Amino acid sequence: MKKIYLDNAATTPVHPEVLAAMAPYFSDQFGNASSIHSFGQVARSAVDAARREIAQFLNCKSTEIIFTSGGSESDNLAINGVVESLKSKVESKPHVITSAFEHHAVLDTIIELEADGVIEATYIKPSSDGLIGAESVKKAIKKNTLLVSIMYVNNEIGTVQPIRAIGQMIEKENKTRDSRIFFHTDAVQATEYFEMNVDYLHVDLLSISAHKIYGPKGVGLLYVRSGTPIKHQIVGGGQEHKKRAGTENVPGIIGFAKAIELIDRSKNERLKKLRDRLIDGLLKIPNSRLNGSQEERSPANVNISFLNAEGESILLNLDMEGIAASTGSACTSGSLEPSHVLSAMGLPPEECHGSVRFTLGRQTAAEEIDKVILVMKNIVEKLRKMSPLK
Ligand SMILES: Cc1ncc(COP(=O)(O)O)c(C=O)c1O
Repeated sequence: MKKIYLDNAATTPVHPEVLAAMAPYFSDQFGNASSIHSFGQVARSAVDAARREIAQFLNCKSTEIIFTSGGSESDNLAINGVVESLKSKVESKPHVITSAFEHHAVLDTIIELEADGVIEATYIKPSSDGLIGAESVKKAIKKNTLLVSIMYVNNEIGTVQPIRAIGQMIEKENKTRDSRIFFHTDAVQATEYFEMNVDYLHVDLLSISAHKIYGPKGVGLLYVRSGTPIKHQIVGGGQEHKKRAGTENVPGIIGFAKAIELIDRSKNERLKKLRDRLIDGLLKIPNSRLNGSQEERSPANVNISFLNAEGESILLNLDMEGIAASTGSACTSGSLEPSHVLSAMGLPPEECHGSVRFTLGRQTAAEEIDKVILVMKNIVEKLRKMSPLK
């Protein structure tokens, strides 16, 4: 049976060109970039070149990039780093604004800081179609607001937040205040499809992860605009401008730069057509609904609730047919807790439980979409017959 992979938001296969670019740095060119001998120099110049290429992609300076172990570390570093660096310098307890449907790497970092009494926090609820408007962020701003963290593309429902508009609004607010508000965005699910120019977006901090863009797992970055105060979270060596200690993941960084080089946004339209074909096909199943705006949506994401059919059971049945999908964030899989994303949008628990996320990728073909539609009709019908809920 040929398998169908529709879980590209969880992770993507490493592109062969990425693998080829990385390979020498595991073997012949294995040097530590901090060593002064020729082995080290080869590694250092490769890391420097990768950093320059990625800086071009983000339209920033090389010195504004901190390589990390991935999206989670970048999010933790952005939030803890800014808060810890400034908490003793402000008069009252710092205030942080985020959304209620962030990835847990952002949400739990803020919840912990709040529980420890370090900050006060506001969690903005998204609209019923899964969007956070600049106006709702503006309304949440207080005198002691220090940081705003709003994700670019939601990992579960694929909705695209107006990051540029939020960034511009914050910049305008900053002109009228004594203390600056810093703006972070988790762009992990947006990198492949949307504008990443940090000046265009008006962001101070931005997180990316390589394994979501056909690069290797275990490497990511945090962009930090010059002048943004950030306290290191890992101490030891002086790597990453003393902001993140640890021997550089040389093959990972080289692979990351290659993965970025291979991003081709002209392919968005192809994916969008496939996405809409899947949405149209699945919405023909009675009592189904699309979660999140269809217009302001990643070209890769389809998230649909099927009333009276349990999401986990759908996934298991799909897996038996060789189809990989997800119920949203991995953290909700296998637990009885309804998705925090769908709950934040106001969906009743029974609809949160019956949601399935399909995320398309570069390898997705039209025949695969048609097969999934057919298989899903049968699975949902079968599960509904077995369900005590009618
Ligand atoms: C929006 C978002 N942020 C952060 C992460 C975490 O990234 P990583 O797996 O590289 O730690 C993910 C991964 O699922 C994500 O989707």
